[in-house]
Amino acid sequence: MTAKTLSPVVDPATQNISPGKVYPGGVDSHHAPVVFPDGFEAQIDEVITHYPVSKRSASLPLLHLWQETFGYISPEGIEWIAAKLELQPINILELVTFYPMFRQHLAGKIQVKVCRTLSCALGGGYALHDYFRTKCKVGEPDAHGLAISEDGKYSVEFVECLAACGTAPVIMINDDFYENVSKQTADELLIKYT
Ligand code: FES
Repeated sequence: MTAKTLSPVVDPATQNISPGKVYPGGVDSHHAPVVFPDGFEAQIDEVITHYPVSKRSASLPLLHLWQETFGYISPEGIEWIAAKLELQPINILELVTFYPMFRQHLAGKIQVKVCRTLSCALGGGYALHDYFRTKCKVGEPDAHGLAISEDGKYSVEFVECLAACGTAPVIMINDDFYENVSKQTADELLIKYT
């Protein structure tokens, strides 16, 4: 596999993120001004109080909260969280690009997550992942392993153990959990969610 060349997203002199520059595969095609839902900033402030010794320790919880709220971590989110924690944007960006659970663009409206850890891998998780990719017509996975259809309707990705190893292969669709998933079940589930 050929390694991708990454463009610099942070100005080394200022540590600022250049507008519009994100990693390949993380291109944000849904750019819109960030509007905070009611109570969002209060929730952020409350989380930070759990880390009185070092606000930096709140970085991951804040990123999770941002992604749960907005669906992905935008450049604006990286800058905002960094400012909130009195860090540089690079300190937050490096977490977003390191941890596979963070996304730099929206996932599909119907999100298929296939477990690839040992039991599920042995139980057909990889073949199931391929099957969903074909059925959902998603493209190549991005740097975070997320493959999304052109219309944004579906995304398919691998996840690690979903704690039901005895009933492999296991998947999630959005927040719903399914065990012993066959190709036939996959077809039925896709009809159910369409
Ligand atoms: S290995 Fe898939 S649920 Fe544990």
